[in-house]
Amino acid sequence: MPAPPVDARSLITECVSVEPCGDDGVILRVRSEEHLEPLRAARFFMLSAQVPGFPAIPRPFSVYRQDGAELEFLIKIMGRGTQALADLSEGAAVRATGPLGNGWPDIDAGNHSVMLAGGIGSAPFYMAIEQALSGSHGTILDASDMTLVYGAATKGLLYDLERFAALGVRVVAATDDGSEGFHGNALEALKQDWESGAIPTDCRLYACGPDPMLHATEHLARERGLKCWLSLEDLMGCGVGICNGCPVPTLPDGAMGDWPNAKCCVEGPVFSIADVTL
Ligand SMILES: Cc1cc2nc3c(=O)[nH]c(=O)nc-3n(C[C@H](O)[C@H](O)[C@H](O)COP(=O)(O)OP(=O)(O)OC[C@H]3O[C@@H](n4cnc5c(N)ncnc54)[C@H](O)[C@@H]3O)c2cc1C
Ligand code: FES
Repeated sequence: MPAPPVDARSLITECVSVEPCGDDGVILRVRSEEHLEPLRAARFFMLSAQVPGFPAIPRPFSVYRQDGAELEFLIKIMGRGTQALADLSEGAAVRATGPLGNGWPDIDAGNHSVMLAGGIGSAPFYMAIEQALSGSHGTILDASDMTLVYGAATKGLLYDLERFAALGVRVVAATDDGSEGFHGNALEALKQDWESGAIPTDCRLYACGPDPMLHATEHLARERGLKCWLSLEDLMGCGVGICNGCPVPTLPDGAMGDWPNAKCCVEGPVFSIADVTL
């Protein structure tokens, strides 16, 4: 049976800072006393603020950025857990269980890579782009080998857009209300770029965002025969493969064979659409 990663630990970290980001988000920076190896983008931690009233079940968050033993998480306030993390003060304790999950596969040269981010789904892409540009998982990619298509309902939900733009890759912003960039959703922006030739039609897709966007991305990739990986943000109970709370339907011809469901926490959160279907 799939097991949690061997490098996962339960750490008590210290809050370094909480900075507002966008209309309803924060960047939480924590410091671990223990050494952390450089983490593959799209791996995640289960976080729990050590404050009264924090939900009994810790909440999963992708690592947004890493600086040695300091980790940043880009967090959209959704409910009690995320609000408690956003309200932390410097020095507060945060239990962080991880690193968990597999992370993005190596982003190789060859076909153009398109990262499709929907709102807070941008979080696992910052380090992915950084790592591809530095070649930390193999080939060094040129900034022209990648495009980030970053969609959201409105401008204020394109979290940290300037910092993404500063990475040097082409960033296509798209908003449903037209307040920033292309007027429409991320997939419509991608299709327009295909039509204009700005993005090659034989690209590979990497997507993270709300369920409707991921469903549409899977559908589009299958229709066009494109390789595609999705980072799923399913609700999670334990994060370590015990509770069966994060099933993802598998495909019989995929890597998991006839087993009907994969566990998002230990076999994901990143899946190829060759292996699972939403
Ligand atoms: C692998 C993984 C990585 C993630 N990375 C990030 C990240 O980098 N940044 C970030 O902000 N969030 C991320 N999430 C989502 C985050 O874990 C949830 O938003 C968080 O658990 C909500 O907790 P809460 O107590 O604030 O909200 P709750 O009180 O639990 O829920 C509030 C409302 O939000 C809804 N909700 C809760 N979680 C989700 C979800 N995952 N998708 C859609 N609706 C939801 C609930 O149904 C409810 O209506 C990630 C999730 C996973 C599984
Ligand atoms: S969250 Fe418990 S098995 Fe995946």
